[in-house]
Amino acid sequence: MQPRRGIKHALSKKTVSYMSEIILGIESSCDDTSAAVIRDGYLLSNVLASQEVHRAYGGVIPELASRAHQLNIVPVVSEAITRAGISPSEIDAIAFTRGPGLLGSLLVGTSFAKGLSLALDKPLVEVNHLQGHILANFIRQYDKDNLQPEFPYLCLLVSGGNSQIVRVDSPLEYEILGQTIDDAVGEAFDKCSKMMGLGYPGGPIVDRLAREGDPLKFRFSKPHVPGLDYSFSGVKTSLLYFVRDRMAEDPDFMEKNKADICAGFQKTLIDILMDKLIKAARQTGIRQITIGGGVSANSGLRARIEEEGRKRGWTTFLPEFKFTTDNAAMIAIAGWFHYRNGKRTGLEVAPVSRLAEF
Ligand code: KG4
Repeated sequence: MQPRRGIKHALSKKTVSYMSEIILGIESSCDDTSAAVIRDGYLLSNVLASQEVHRAYGGVIPELASRAHQLNIVPVVSEAITRAGISPSEIDAIAFTRGPGLLGSLLVGTSFAKGLSLALDKPLVEVNHLQGHILANFIRQYDKDNLQPEFPYLCLLVSGGNSQIVRVDSPLEYEILGQTIDDAVGEAFDKCSKMMGLGYPGGPIVDRLAREGDPLKFRFSKPHVPGLDYSFSGVKTSLLYFVRDRMAEDPDFMEKNKADICAGFQKTLIDILMDKLIKAARQTGIRQITIGGGVSANSGLRARIEEEGRKRGWTTFLPEFKFTTDNAAMIAIAGWFHYRNGKRTGLEVAPVSRLAEF
């Protein structure tokens, strides 16, 4: 049953009284337009419009993404409010993704959030997209267990734009322990698929094929990067040369071996990710491990995290698939934490495309 606004209801074993808080989240950092409503951390709605237009080009075309966001933003936000069963006046704050991401895409969500904030006279709360991914495990759903990590925890944040190990000390305090010095792991998945002519986005395709292949038949070189940082450009090049050389000997090589190539390549990427995550857990002594970002949907990576968790006494938290890729529920939850902490964003705020600008 859903607790009602402004009434007494049970929180753990104590009965407390408080005004509940409703946050509308808006996400438009790349090629998904999404809006979500949460009440006191519980998800009331999460609406997502993905942009099929990019498929034909084998990658996201920024200009087309901005245009599609313009078309989608009004119906998506409106649908999220309707599905939540609230009236717009009940919203306490509007959380939106300020960055990082594609600037034209971010401009649509940011400008819309500002307009709505003025129209409804509700405060704005800016959210760092990556923080949304890091906090995705805190989205509560009615009729679910809602198990959540304890602080401090480590989050392996893996997407099309980032590969990081983040130490999270509280909802609003975190430290990047390691990150990629070149490509993101999602890019490596996407490039692999593109090189092999398998389609876009590459991650889910490589994942599906890898399940049918032998991960030990072909091996790819792993980089030697000091500390907890990652590198994925070398393994991509290693795949390129491997395919080129084998195809020179047998033009049908790729077609005959695509499942095994995907399985070997995916295993290499997962090994690279896990080596550093294990090192980070050892160095920090932290055993609460979470994962976030689009690549956290990968079935091989999820299985491996659970396997290592069993072996090493970690408690692992894997977000539901719908919260792995870009979604506004994670922006709403991160926005809620900020809102409760007193953060308010002025109308003068502009979106930022790069993490370093935060
Ligand atoms: O977090 P996300 O939706 O967008 C950003 O990059 O912000 O991540 C997208 C990335 C893409 O590179 C996509 O190929 C990858 O996540 N991805 C996957 C899987 N599903 C999505 N990679 C590997 N296995 C998957 N199942």
